[in-house]
Amino acid sequence: MLSRIHHVGVAVTDLDESIRIYRAAFGAELVHRAVNEKEGLEAAFLRAGDGEVELMRPTREDSPVGKFVAKRGPGLHHVAYAVTDIVGALAEARAAGLELIDAEPRMGMHGTRIAFVHPKSLGGVLTELVETNTTAAEIGRALGSEPPNE
Ligand code: CO
Repeated sequence: MLSRIHHVGVAVTDLDESIRIYRAAFGAELVHRAVNEKEGLEAAFLRAGDGEVELMRPTREDSPVGKFVAKRGPGLHHVAYAVTDIVGALAEARAAGLELIDAEPRMGMHGTRIAFVHPKSLGGVLTELVETNTTAAEIGRALGSEPPNE
């Protein structure tokens, strides 16, 4: 069901400074940056191997990320896993008794369907499912590394 870790979400208060640090310290490449007015955040995605880091800055104090930062301060916000069939993955998660934040998939910032699972179902970790038809093995081949067994 989960094909790989797709990205890790990190809440920040200064997006430009956070991007600068990830670039300076790790040579991370900025792949995408956009404001999501509906969710009240600005996000920057930086490449980390075959995964990404999503740095998120709240644009409003009353947005979900704004409330998170007000309550806990900047820090790890969510973990996102890639799935090839998000409708099937949500059905399996529901059948396993997980509480879903999104009963139906919605469009994420990469133009693919996403859904969130409530942190209380997964040990306090807000978990995002991202639909992608690209498997870790395919990404490995694209990056020039062959998986040991497939
Ligand atoms: Co995310």
